[in-house]
Amino acid sequence: MQDVKDAYSLISDELGAMNEMASKLMSDVNPFVDDVVRYGLQLGGKRLRPAILFLTARGVGKITENHIRAATAIELIHTATLIHDDVLDGAFIRRHLATINFKWNPHVAVLAGDILLTKAMELLTSNNDIQGFKRISIACRQTCEGELLQTGTIGNFAISQDDYMNIISRKTAPFLACSSELGAYYSKANQKTVEIFRQFGQQIGIAFQMIDDVLDFNGKTDTTGKTLHTDILNRKPTLPLILYLQKAPKKDLAEMTKRLNVGKKKNINETNAEWIANRICQSGVVEDIQRLAGSIIDSAIESISSYCAVDPQAISGLTAIAKFITSRKN
Ligand code: IPE
Ligand code: IPE
Ligand code: MG
Ligand code: MG
Repeated sequence: MQDVKDAYSLISDELGAMNEMASKLMSDVNPFVDDVVRYGLQLGGKRLRPAILFLTARGVGKITENHIRAATAIELIHTATLIHDDVLDGAFIRRHLATINFKWNPHVAVLAGDILLTKAMELLTSNNDIQGFKRISIACRQTCEGELLQTGTIGNFAISQDDYMNIISRKTAPFLACSSELGAYYSKANQKTVEIFRQFGQQIGIAFQMIDDVLDFNGKTDTTGKTLHTDILNRKPTLPLILYLQKAPKKDLAEMTKRLNVGKKKNINETNAEWIANRICQSGVVEDIQRLAGSIIDSAIESISSYCAVDPQAISGLTAIAKFITSRKN
């Protein structure tokens, strides 16, 4: 059984080629533009989506230039969504560095995200690859729709678990789905196989966001590299809070309702956010969510386990990455 480090080392050359392609694209003659876009593409991210794309590609066939191009475009767009997300969330730290909205300002961040996004579009269309472009565009649109749906739930603590699952199925899962899908697609897999891997990515993407939302409550900025408690400070009803409110004893609910500013259009302060996070972490919902995410991951792994792989080691690598999602601290 591999661990996640072994999985990444299987594809280290391809990740290197992707980083090189991305950094070449990010240079600009104007020093201000150059500074901002290069800063936007710092090396601190996990490169999870490219890793999934390359491992799927190897499991199914051979890694080609098409894979490197698609992985670069996906990572650029993913980074653009994070830059924009930090504006929406008013976050200060990302990938262990100051966010662009904090280091410069939100205007710079909106434009930097747009530049990364459009550089990715140029890259994808440079090869007249309409299929890849279309699939990535759909994932990108779904991410925006998910973010929009979530924005519409701010301050609404009565949303259901299904509403939440629906949001994260659009906001986060499509990019992981598209990574695995394109890995198989460019390796010339048949439609059925491409669909199996797309579903695999979608499932692990859902679990990924569930754990991300837990980390916003119980993580550490030193390890996650991002501002903590942004969901609660922004009154986003994520799964830990939704489940807590469903099962909390009446006496706790009254205090929680007060601190959440329920019914008021008022942000939560740091002291109340800390109190809410502690109460939720002690309630047992974190463990419930970890179990639920674990079972989603298990069924995703099961769905690819009988696939007759060209390179079984690469499929073990995908399994290791899927398992890492539930135990991750960053
Ligand atoms: C963060 O994604 C945004 C979410 C979808 C929760 P990652 O955790 O993959 O971010 P990086 O790329 O490693 O920075
Ligand atoms: C946004 O979700 C993830 C995207 C798909 C852009 P979060 O707001 O939870 O992501 P982080 O925690 O800031 O990385
Ligand atoms: Mg955020
Ligand atoms: Mg988060």
